[in-house]
Amino acid sequence: VRGWQIRQPDGPSAVALAELPDLVDPAALVVGVRAAGVGFPDLLMSWGKFQVRQPTPFTLGWEGAGEVVSAPANSYFAVGDRVMTLSFGCYAEQVAAVPETTFALPDALSYEQGAALPLNYLTAIAGLQRRGGLQDGETVLVQGAAGGAGTAAVQVARALGARVFAVVSSEEKADVARAAGAEEVFLISADWRAAVIEASDGGVNLVYDPVGGSRFTDCLRCLASEGRLIVIGFAAGEIPEVAVNRLLLKNIDVRGCTWSVLANAPDGLRQAASELGAMAEAGAIRPPVGATFPFAQAREALQTVEQRHSLGKTVLTVSP
Ligand SMILES: NC(=O)c1ccc[n+]([C@@H]2O[C@H](COP(=O)([O-])OP(=O)(O)OC[C@H]3O[C@@H](n4cnc5c(N)ncnc54)[C@H](OP(=O)(O)O)[C@@H]3O)[C@@H](O)[C@H]2O)c1
Repeated sequence: VRGWQIRQPDGPSAVALAELPDLVDPAALVVGVRAAGVGFPDLLMSWGKFQVRQPTPFTLGWEGAGEVVSAPANSYFAVGDRVMTLSFGCYAEQVAAVPETTFALPDALSYEQGAALPLNYLTAIAGLQRRGGLQDGETVLVQGAAGGAGTAAVQVARALGARVFAVVSSEEKADVARAAGAEEVFLISADWRAAVIEASDGGVNLVYDPVGGSRFTDCLRCLASEGRLIVIGFAAGEIPEVAVNRLLLKNIDVRGCTWSVLANAPDGLRQAASELGAMAEAGAIRPPVGATFPFAQAREALQTVEQRHSLGKTVLTVSP
């Protein structure tokens, strides 16, 4: 069994292909990986900067889709099931899958689309619905709306009945955000803040922000009274600070969110996954797969993310 490992956290160029032990074990949930999602957290892991530290060497990757190759009796799973999983080590031909974060892959989705789903779409449900309290008909502004987290938020917000605005850095990315379902797309090179406030008649109800950095204060300025800014990540690198007088003056909230908040409710993750499954079967969400790389090119896949070139979700095809 082959997998891409981090021996030293020196970034994408230091990721190395290794021969790993076969994991198949009737007492454990093991997935034969067909496709792995490549996202910003993988990049952070490759540099040793991710919030969860794994001892080296470890196999890279956090999400994937494939077929169950072994499963304990009386589990949710049987050998041969098509699944998607949020489990460390997905850049490999087999992964020891975490049962709580492994879900049926909707029939409507390919393995590549399934690999693009668990992390970003669960985060979208967590951020928009649970932390954001999004109501039908509200307006959402998504930053980095052509990336993996961004396209997921655009699609889920639309599926939940919101009007969706998007902010991106290029015309090519604007097309991706529009294809994901954004009603209006604004370029960061223009005065997007004024345009968003005008298009939303005074401000949006929710900002979904996986980017952070220098645009953060403008995001706060885009909120309507009782608006919520959901902090998802810091792809721009810089962690912004909040002058809390702004929160008071405008009656607004800044709320942090990770997908794991869904686990606070009994069976919350499985419920969210089945809600996403229903959206996928109904055609309301369809993870946009951008660049797809063969298994041999894990480094190039990570570099796509590092160079800010993600268009939708970057995917590594593990076994075709
Ligand atoms: N909270 C959670 O549970 C959770 C879950 C998933 C991901 N995240 C976080 O969300 C963030 C986005 O992840 P992702 O996988 O969606 O990444 P991605 O696909 O690469 O998208 C990131 C977007 O950020 C924007 N960006 C601005 N400055 C950037 C820079 N210097 N380098 C790269 N991108 C830059 C880019 O959009 P423009 O070019 O249009 O500006 C890009 O499309 C990461 O911080 C990740 O850790 C958090």
